[in-house]
Amino acid sequence: MALRTPIIAGNWKLHMGPAAAGALAGYLRDALESGAGAGSGGELVVFPTALSIPSVVAALAGSAIAVGIQEVAAKPTGALTGANSAVMAREAGCTWMLTGHSERRQFFAETDEGVRDKVKAGLAAGLRVMVCIGETLDERKAGRVEEVTRRQLGVALQGVPASALAELAVAYEPVWAIGTGVTATPEQAEEAHASIRAYLRTLYPAEADALRLLYGGSVKADNAATLLGQPDIDGALVGGASLEVASFAAIVGAAGAA
Ligand code: PGA
Repeated sequence: MALRTPIIAGNWKLHMGPAAAGALAGYLRDALESGAGAGSGGELVVFPTALSIPSVVAALAGSAIAVGIQEVAAKPTGALTGANSAVMAREAGCTWMLTGHSERRQFFAETDEGVRDKVKAGLAAGLRVMVCIGETLDERKAGRVEEVTRRQLGVALQGVPASALAELAVAYEPVWAIGTGVTATPEQAEEAHASIRAYLRTLYPAEADALRLLYGGSVKADNAATLLGQPDIDGALVGGASLEVASFAAIVGAAGAA
């Protein structure tokens, strides 16, 4: 049995409005309840775009699939036109939030310090927080994977007490593997995860071994099992392959086999 209960998360990004997202959530629920991906024993969470959260929450009411928001502001309320709030996400039925995704860092100028403030906002609102970190291809080529991931995570966790660690998960997503079809090899991913875990042990000696470290970046039905079979890979954050019931359910099933 795996040391840690795996988490399989679907990041739906800016895909599917309320009708399509609600329908997909319903299909996913039906597929999983009728046995697809059976025996995974893992936790499941989907991150629809904010406008689709109500329909997805409704479609998944009473199911074991959790709903999360893709990004929040650092403040719960205020003069922040266009932003979303962790407190409001909680009210809308979310139990998770994502932050630090490389697309946010790249296209929305998110900084390490901004991610840290959002982690705090999410925890304060009672959300569980999935923090994304990962290096670019240039950073990997320059041998900076450990330095970059430790910096991103170290800042994100500033001020997070050990007692809150159970509410956190970390997703290691090498930027060069996201949406490219190029997956990190299981060895590359495990090397990064083991390094991240070692770093977490220096920060939270008693809690680091229980924290779930997810891998993300072109996870598909056919590569999920070997990735999830690595000792420090405790789940997957899935983009493209989470938009189809069959591939997502197969990844959920792979978590059970790992
Ligand atoms: P991908 O996206 O699975 O499509 O590579 C992963 C992510 O961005 O979380």
